[in-house]
Parts: sequence; structure tokens; C-alpha cells
Amino acid sequence: MKGRDILSIGDLAPQELRSLLELATRLKKDGHDQPLQGRTLALVFEKPSLRTRLSFEVAMRSLGGHCLYFSPQEVGLGVREPVKDVARVLERHVDCIAVRTFEQEKVEEMARWAAVPVINALSDHEHPTQALADLLTVLEAKGGLAGVTIAFVGDGNNVARSLCLGAAMSGAHFRIASPEGYELPPALVERARALADGSGGSIALVRHPHEAVAGADVVYTDVWTSMGQEEEAGARRRAFAGYTVDQALMSLAAPDAIFMHDLPAHRGEEVVDEVIEGPRSVVWQQAENKTHAVKALLLLLLAGEGG
Ligand code: NVA
Repeated sequence: MKGRDILSIGDLAPQELRSLLELATRLKKDGHDQPLQGRTLALVFEKPSLRTRLSFEVAMRSLGGHCLYFSPQEVGLGVREPVKDVARVLERHVDCIAVRTFEQEKVEEMARWAAVPVINALSDHEHPTQALADLLTVLEAKGGLAGVTIAFVGDGNNVARSLCLGAAMSGAHFRIASPEGYELPPALVERARALADGSGGSIALVRHPHEAVAGADVVYTDVWTSMGQEEEAGARRRAFAGYTVDQALMSLAAPDAIFMHDLPAHRGEEVVDEVIEGPRSVVWQQAENKTHAVKALLLLLLAGEGG
């Protein structure tokens, strides 16, 4: 994987995804030395971030390298400066670039022009590092991914898309309940189904949350209004009425089902306080796991092996 760009979770082959999760598990359990000494990662962020920035910075530092953070005001990708110019300046200074932006095309353009690995640290289209943390958490909680049923309740957004592809690559059964107009894009579903065909997994799109959650091992939700969609918040609140993960919905899942959320959470919208604070919630473990997953990713992209 050395030198590769990760713009979608689908840029990893299923076997590479498995190896990455094994490496993350090993790094979390056994610790590591500092194989990325002298390496620099640029974080070019056009949207706010807590967990993703934290995980990249902590991962890079504990592996011996360091990070340079560029805030939304500083770069202005494609506005203050063309993306291709930013790419060609950054590649001469750093070993890796993580980009958080709106359009997937900007991440792709950065990757086309920068010779160093480019990682999608969230775009409107995908959130691959979140899916790595999510899959690591399911693996820990359920002892494996193949055959596990993951129910996603809500918007077919960046988080849902990456998780859908990652689940499909891992032999999991992914069921998503979304209101009309907020489903996963058909092209992504087609891609995920092809991956699931090869892994023994499956993908199901349903309308009602209870259809997705019935008997599921994992219940997952995310915000109804993602960053950049703030002006749609009212319409989205109306469209997603009935999609709140509450105790009644959780009671339809498997008795040992876990609750997951990538955070930030809006209590009273996509989830109620009793569920996110309840005994089935693994959201803090999930947040921590982003650092372990990102460590594995950085090691594979920059050192080419497990360190
Ligand atoms: N779907 C959310 C994820 C935040 C980590 C957003 O894009 O705002």
C-alpha cells in the first residue's frame, strides 16, 4: 500500500482492509516504536473536526512524525489558490496530505497533482477513516465482521457510504433505512453489491427503521444534517421524523446489539440520550479506535509495513 492515495475506502482491496484492521488491533494491543520519525503530514481542513484531526495528530506524533494543520480560513482550496498549486507546493514539503473538504473532486484533484499519498479525511461523498474506526470497533465487539448485521438508520451520507462499502468488503450484512430522497446513491449501492457478492455479505435498502434494525448486531446512526447542509436543517428534521434511534427501536435489535455513532451527536434528533449514554453504546471506544486505525493506515502508506 506504500505511496497509495486513499480517497474512498474502496481504494483498499478487501485483503488490504483485513490486514489494516489486523495491524490496528496489534498496534492497539502491543504498542509500537516510532517508525515515522522525521515524517510530516499536512492536514488541509476546510470543515471543522475534533476526532479526525485528533486521531491524525496523535497517531502521527506517537509514531515519531509530526503534523502541520491548515484551518478552513488558511487554504481556500480552489478559491484562494487552485488545488493543483496547493498540491505541488505541499508535496515538496510533506510526506502525506490529509484533506477534509466538500467536493470529492477536490480530494481527487489533490491526489492527481501531489506525488505523496493523499488521504480523504472526509468529503461530502465519503469518510473512509471513519469506516476504518467503525469496522475495527465492530470487529472488537463481535469478534469478526463476516456475517455481522449492521443496521444504519438515517441519511445515506458520507459516513453511511464508506461504512456500506467497508461492510460489503468484509462479508457483513449492511441494511440502511432512509427516508425518500435521502437514500444511498444507486452507483454506490451497485459497487457495494458487487463487493458483497465476492465476500458473502449483502446490502439492503429499506424505508422504515424497524426493517433495518430487526435482529441487527449493530445499530448505527449519524447526524441528519451534515457539515455544509445547514440551510437544509429544517427540511431534514421534517424528513427524518421517525428515524430517531430510541430505546423502542433498540429493543428490536439482537439482545447483545451495540449502538454506534461517529459523533458529533445531536441528542433528541438522530439519537436519544438514553441510548447514546446507555450500556449498549460503544461510541467512546469507537472514537478512540480512529487513532488506532489511522496509525495503521499511516504506517502502511508511509512505511509500507506494520512498523
Ligand atoms: N456526516 C457528518 C459526519 C461528521 C463526522 C458530516 O459530514 O458532517
